[in-house]
Order: sequence, then C-alpha cells, then structure tokens
Amino acid sequence: MDRFSDGFLFGASSSAFQIEGSLDRDGRGPSVWDAFIARPGRERLRSDAATACDHYARWADDVAIAGELGLDAYRFSVSWPRIQPDGRGEPNRAGLDFYSRLVDGLLERDVRPFPTLFHWDLPLALQRDSGGFRDRDTAARFEDYAGIVARALGDRVKDWITINEPFEYACFGHLFGTHAPGVKSPLAYLQVVHHQLLAHGRAVSAIRSEAAGARVGIALSWTPVHPLRDTEADEKAAARANAFMNGVSFDPILLGRYPALVTRGLLRPPVRDGDFETISTPLDFVGLNYYSREKARNAPLVPFIRADVTGKEPRELPESDDRTAMGWEVYHRGLVEILAELRGRYGNPPVIVTEFGSAWSDSVETDAATGRARVGDTRRVRYLRDALAAMRSAIEAGSDLRGAFVWSLTDNFEWAEGNAKRFGLVHVDYGTQARTVKDSGRWYAGLIASRVLDASSRVLETGSEDT
Ligand code: FCB
Repeated sequence: MDRFSDGFLFGASSSAFQIEGSLDRDGRGPSVWDAFIARPGRERLRSDAATACDHYARWADDVAIAGELGLDAYRFSVSWPRIQPDGRGEPNRAGLDFYSRLVDGLLERDVRPFPTLFHWDLPLALQRDSGGFRDRDTAARFEDYAGIVARALGDRVKDWITINEPFEYACFGHLFGTHAPGVKSPLAYLQVVHHQLLAHGRAVSAIRSEAAGARVGIALSWTPVHPLRDTEADEKAAARANAFMNGVSFDPILLGRYPALVTRGLLRPPVRDGDFETISTPLDFVGLNYYSREKARNAPLVPFIRADVTGKEPRELPESDDRTAMGWEVYHRGLVEILAELRGRYGNPPVIVTEFGSAWSDSVETDAATGRARVGDTRRVRYLRDALAAMRSAIEAGSDLRGAFVWSLTDNFEWAEGNAKRFGLVHVDYGTQARTVKDSGRWYAGLIASRVLDASSRVLETGSEDT
C-alpha cells in the first residue's frame, strides 16, 4: 500500500516577494526585484508585485488555510530587505515582528514553520554598492543577517533553509538577465554561484550558534538534462549542461568540490583556500526543488549553458496533459532518477522535496450542487499524485526522503511571468483577493489526513475529477 509514514512532512511552500505585496510598508527597503520591475515596459509586473497576494496584510487568513488543509509544515521566506533595509546594520524591528507573528500563528495551528532566508529578493543597496553576490563580502553580510533572524526566531523555529536555488538566481539573474538583477555575464554567473554557496555555508554555522538544536538545509533545484538525439555530441552537451545546472551546486555542498567541467574553462568560480570546507558543512537535510527535465543538443557556436539546452520548441507547445502552462514537460521519472543519483553519487543524505508542483490555466466556476465557488484543477491533482507516487517508489528503493512541499500554497507572483501563471493549491482572485481552495487543495488535505496515496485519490471520485 502506498502509505507515507506518520513522520513524513506534507507541506506547501511560498516566498516573500511572490506573495507579500506591501513593498513600502514598515521600513522595508527596496530589493533587486523592485528595481528590475521598475524598468520601462514592465508595468504589468510592477502592478502585479505591488500587491501580489497581499499576504503581508492577510497572513492570518493564509495561516488559517494552511491549518484547515492540515499541513504538517509551511515553507515561507523571510524578506532580507524587511529585516535589514540596506542589507547591513541594525535590524528593523517591524520586519522581525512580522515574521515572529507568522511563526506564532503557524505554531498555534500545529504547522511547522520552515523559513528560507534568501529567496532572490536581495536588498538593492548591496547590489548598487558592490554588485550583490558578485562580491565576496555579500557572503559575510548574509551571515550577519542569518544570525539576526535565527536569534529572533530560533526559540520557536527548528527547521531552517538558507538559500533557495542558487543556480537559478545566478543563471536567470546574471547570465540570461531574465530575472533580477538583470545582468548578462558568464563571469557574474560563476561569481554569484560561488558566493551564494559560501554565504550558505557561513549561514549554517551562524544559525546553529544562535538557535540551539536548529536543523539546517538548503533548497537546490535539479533539472535532469538528457541528450536530444542519441549522438555522442548531444551526450556531451547534456553532460555539460548537467554540470553547470545541477552539479554546480550539489557537488560543492555534498562532495566539497565543483564538477570538473565547471572548473575547466577560462572563466572559473572564484574559489579561495578553505571555501569548500565552509560550503560543505554537513547539513541536516538537503532540500530538492524539482519541476521538469530539459533536453540538450550540441550547439558549438552558442556559448555556455543555454547553449546546449534546446528548451525552445517544447515551450511553444500548448498546455496539455503532458505539458504545463509554463511549457514544462510533465516528467515524474525525473524525481526517480534524481533520488537514485542522490543515493548513489551523493551518499543518500536526508532529503526534503522543498518544491514540486505545476501551473495550469485554472478557472473558478460555480458548483451546481452547492452554489459555491470551485476550481476543478484535475491536471494538478494528477500531477501531484503522480509526483508523490514517484517519491514513494524512491523511498521503497531506499531514499531517505522525509517530506514534500507543494509549490505553492496560494497562486502568486511568478517572477517574469507575473500573476498570470497559477501554481497554487488555493486560487487567488487578484481583483478581490478572495481565496478559493482548489480541488487539488482538498485532495491534498485528504492525503495528509489518510497518508495513503490510493485512498486519498479516491477523494477525487466524490468531486469532479475523472481519474
Ligand atoms: C522555482 C522558484 C519558485 C517558483 C517556482 C515555480 O524555481 O524557486 O520561486 O517560482 O520555481
């Protein structure tokens, strides 16, 4: 029977900039994302992010929903510019108080808080003054900030995540320039990867020394890259893309070195003596964010990572059972592959899936029987169930998988896509801020209560689901 143990954590995730809004309330300083969406032509993003889910004002409603769904845990991020508006110096009391109330609210409802300390909203002052994570000193700034938050919340928060997806922040923000801070430089990409990893390692010690008994991890993305065609050239391209997208963070954290392919080029991460020791400080768990896979082809004239990853044609295909609204292929085997690799190459560390989920074009309808608002998101239910079945099979195969967090609790501001892409278990009407628990949210609540994948999917048959 597909039963998850009672200790397995079923959670949901979010991040500060994607849900909070209230960007100028209570002394918050601007972040790199505020500046990025202030550029001409980004009016829609700017108005989307200004309010987002209005979570800064409505946090108690969201905590109540987390409680009603029966979540074991909730992962949110702390906004660095609310705590240190300039990224350094004395903490802003009002910022700390906000997260302190949030933590208390979660604990009152028996939902374990999992704060992430950096989910991409770097204080703008650090970017302006020294190039943000391009500068080694930003790792020291992050260590200070981590210590401040751990001191304030560590009496109640036991589980900590340092940084969310150092690869994506470095790559989208500093190589492709499609995310904040909008830099396009291969060297910047390598600097930002390395200094975030260093920041992570330093923060692990800061958190542990401020918060007794803290369990600390990091959330790393892993997108398996497969060769597009069965040729040696495409296989090489895939190996290279895997090294620069996945190995680039998993290897330093878990093996204490970069993959050889990453350190072979003219441009290299700015490693100094002793860095790997800090970066590979043993963790209590590794957070894994998984969405999809990519395919790589040999493309010698296009430089660096994207170079080799096609990505293009598939993204143009319309939404279907096999492709989400983001254009991402539905590929649950990826989870099985990654977890096998973590058992083999990386020594089977404790893992928590800190993000998995999918965006679909949901719509709110009126349920004929009850007259109530209803979101019949059949595809999301199927997606979550199949992903969890993949996780179950990895557990059977010996993976030390301890929990899974759906991205996301509510629909939210999906970065460069704005509010248009919906990932939530809970629908948000951005005009009225009304929250409607989707069928997937109700299904997930059933699963959490029963811990059994099969029985919980039977909940569907009482709803509109056709599976
Ligand atoms: C991840 C991010 C998260 C969200 C999902 C869809 O890469 O960590 O903030 O945008 O993708």
